[in-house]
Amino acid sequence: MHAPASHSSVVVNGQPFVLPQSTLASATLLHVLRNDLALNGPKYGCGLGQCGACTVLVDGIAARACVIPAQGVAGREVTTLEGLPRRCSRTAGLHPVQQAFVDEQAAQCGYCLNGMVMMAVALLERNPDPDEAAVRRELSGNLCRCGTHVEIMRAVLRAAVLMREAQA
Ligand code: FES
Ligand code: FES
Repeated sequence: MHAPASHSSVVVNGQPFVLPQSTLASATLLHVLRNDLALNGPKYGCGLGQCGACTVLVDGIAARACVIPAQGVAGREVTTLEGLPRRCSRTAGLHPVQQAFVDEQAAQCGYCLNGMVMMAVALLERNPDPDEAAVRRELSGNLCRCGTHVEIMRAVLRAAVLMREAQA
């Protein structure tokens, strides 16, 4: 997509979006996703890079969108929660990680779930068969104030099985 000189494009969930350069230069990635692109999967929690609620994938790596300047993702592939289903082409509907969270009812208020799910996707794409300790390590920087940790752990381990089945 050709963008006018005062605009730049960012690719989110496989789709190019053209935004004013002034917006990209002054806003965080989280602000642009939620306020300009209406992608509300990533949540605003601490705004300081400390809780994980805003996690997205940038070129497949988990990243905290609240502390990334929007301009910093130019030329990179951003995936949000909304883009997960297209990341696992062998399943219809929900991504296996999303399905596992539903199956295990791994939510209370749900505010942390975006971050938990995105971290789990990043982990399972790197390591399809993690043990419990590896899952704990990966999620240790993501806060859940409701104490849903047991169910979340179960969901990620179940997601690993579903993802392996989807690849088989
Ligand atoms: S809102 Fe980004 S880490 Fe807390
Ligand atoms: S389910 Fe409420 S913060 Fe995790």
